[in-house]
Amino acid sequence: AVIVRSSTNIEGELLNADQKLKIVVPAGIGVDNIYLSACKDKGIVVENTPFGNANSAAEHAVALMFAAARFVPQAHEKLINGEWAKKLFMGVELKGKTLGLIGAGNIGRLVAQKAIGLGMNVIAYDPYPNQKALDELGVNILDLNDLLRGADFVSLHIPLLDSTKHIMGQEQFEIMKETAILINASRGGTVDEGALTQALIDGRIAGAALDVFEEEPLGAGHAFEDLNNIILTPHLGASTHDAQIQVAVDAAEQIEAFLKDEIIKNQVNS
Ligand code: MLT
Repeated sequence: AVIVRSSTNIEGELLNADQKLKIVVPAGIGVDNIYLSACKDKGIVVENTPFGNANSAAEHAVALMFAAARFVPQAHEKLINGEWAKKLFMGVELKGKTLGLIGAGNIGRLVAQKAIGLGMNVIAYDPYPNQKALDELGVNILDLNDLLRGADFVSLHIPLLDSTKHIMGQEQFEIMKETAILINASRGGTVDEGALTQALIDGRIAGAALDVFEEEPLGAGHAFEDLNNIILTPHLGASTHDAQIQVAVDAAEQIEAFLKDEIIKNQVNS
């Protein structure tokens, strides 16, 4: 059995080398670093652990929303460089603003709960919505363009699939409010980084906060480095002591159940 986080790729030589491998368990939800069909061809089960880090991911999205709304990293940077930049940073409150979720699954709904607690109005786009759960929260499902037109903050909570690659690109940034802020703590590749850079340079949208990138680690000299209306963190969504304990326990229990009793709980490559 092999347990991985998001930066270890399970593909190519690694799969060919170990003919005894029976199960791969990502300690988290994302599986885009695992060559699922190759594992299937070799009879290797891939099971994720989708719940243990979900709250940490949701909290990180909310943290990015606060940080972007109040320029926390930019103000910190000025202050440690000796500048008391009180007049430079005029933020916005989250209360009373509309949060548009792209993806209203487990993590998206946790973000919705927290945002509602902060006094935000939450709307969502999701092609396969859990209507009952969203009705209970009071979250309306809209089509993507209507969501982009109405949202002050847009936060992605989707996997990277063919259908979600660059779901946020130039066309979508043009629909968004000029005052809107984009948050992505889901998967890189869902946002077209070239189009986002241009939208931020042109003032098409007000800001962005990203935890995930098309290429990770983010290479030196990336166009984002020249922007002052973007906040970046290095894929930290699941990086809390709490989440890592929980996903480790989930992964270990799932592996034990599979190896001892052939019980498969969350297979993603069947
Ligand atoms: C996840 O997919 O759950 C996270 O990205 C995994 C991680 O960063 O550990």
